[in-house]
Amino acid sequence: MSTSSARVSIDFAERSYDILIGQQLLDAPSTWADLPKAAAAFIVTNDTVGPMYAQRLQAALAPLYKQVHTVVLPDGESHKDWPTLNLIFDALLGQGADRKTVLFALGGGVVGDMTGFAAACYMRGVPFVQVPTTLLAQVDSSVGGKTAINHPIGKNMIGAFYQPQRVVCDLDTLQTLPQREMSAGLAEVMKYGPIADMQFLDWIDANLDALMARDASALAHAVKRSCEIKAWVVGQDEREGGIRAILNFGHTFGHAIEAGLGFGEWLHGEAVGCGMVMAAHLSQRLGLVDEAFVTRFTNLIARAGLPTVGPKLGADEYLHHMRVDKKAEAGEIKFVLIDQPGSAIVRGAPDALVAQVINDCCEP
Ligand code: NAD
Ligand code: GLY
Repeated sequence: MSTSSARVSIDFAERSYDILIGQQLLDAPSTWADLPKAAAAFIVTNDTVGPMYAQRLQAALAPLYKQVHTVVLPDGESHKDWPTLNLIFDALLGQGADRKTVLFALGGGVVGDMTGFAAACYMRGVPFVQVPTTLLAQVDSSVGGKTAINHPIGKNMIGAFYQPQRVVCDLDTLQTLPQREMSAGLAEVMKYGPIADMQFLDWIDANLDALMARDASALAHAVKRSCEIKAWVVGQDEREGGIRAILNFGHTFGHAIEAGLGFGEWLHGEAVGCGMVMAAHLSQRLGLVDEAFVTRFTNLIARAGLPTVGPKLGADEYLHHMRVDKKAEAGEIKFVLIDQPGSAIVRGAPDALVAQVINDCCEP
């Protein structure tokens, strides 16, 4: 039996949009109603997701656009770069796409971030729709308008804030997701508890087995509540001048793990999961939370199949990568810390204390 659909709105005045969450959304004509009119639509996907879902999306869009093209990118974080982005521009220009052309990002966060950036740049901006097919993309990356590609020196360093017209989270697509990717997505679901809503963390704790087993109603609640919290945060601070930074809980340590090991060695969500454990320890060292909170949160991360011990990179290498983080100001590393469970702050910490946390939380 399918769960009923939900709609979460994100408020950006005239750029406001809806996030649709439910089953069987890909094929339902109502999902695609009232999008900007255009002669052509381009589905941007990759060589893993395309063969599974692009034909269905193409069929759903065919009544709305004279032409529906599909651009298939190589799969993987290592392709989140200029040459791959250029494949989108090559296809758009090659097919004579005009400035009303609508792009549809069909895939995980890599496809979503790249398609959004292409939409922001092509003819100085064309509309785009996010159709996220990973848990991570449904609960985080497709919402809020951050778009980017990587640079060898740092992750997501070249990009733009550019909001989609709509986000369509078809929960059925999660059934084909590899288990490791499910766990990675759960990291981004779990982050919303300590930073904003401990009742949600309690709910995750009680329903983790159902989430891991991809129970449709558990997934529906997890995606909806995550999107509600993200919409609430991002609606107040689109360009991360303040509160939006709390969404990066665990990301300062996590980005250092990703960069230190080489992008793609650990999944983004795995690095964030472990990074949240390290940030929780730093919060405790600074006297903000107690050991019971850190232990409970660490156990939950482990139960989701995520690493809780960081790779052995050495404190100096961690600190080096963390200084390149976008939150760093004049070389000072900023951390998202839990000041009490359910509430986060952004602040610096002495290098020596950070190094202690790294040494305690990483492989010896
Ligand atoms: P991903 O896009 O690489 O997808 C993970 C893997 O799952 C890929 O191999 C993909 O092809 C495959 N896949 C996708 N959907 C599938 C499905 N339904 N069935 C089977 N396989 C499927 O990774 P991700 O975790 O979705 O996203 C990570 C990216 O998102 C990173 O680049 C990260 O920087 C970015 N991100 C962006 C934001 C933002 O706010 N824009 C937030 C968080 C993360
Ligand atoms: N994923 C963090 C943000 O959207 O701000």
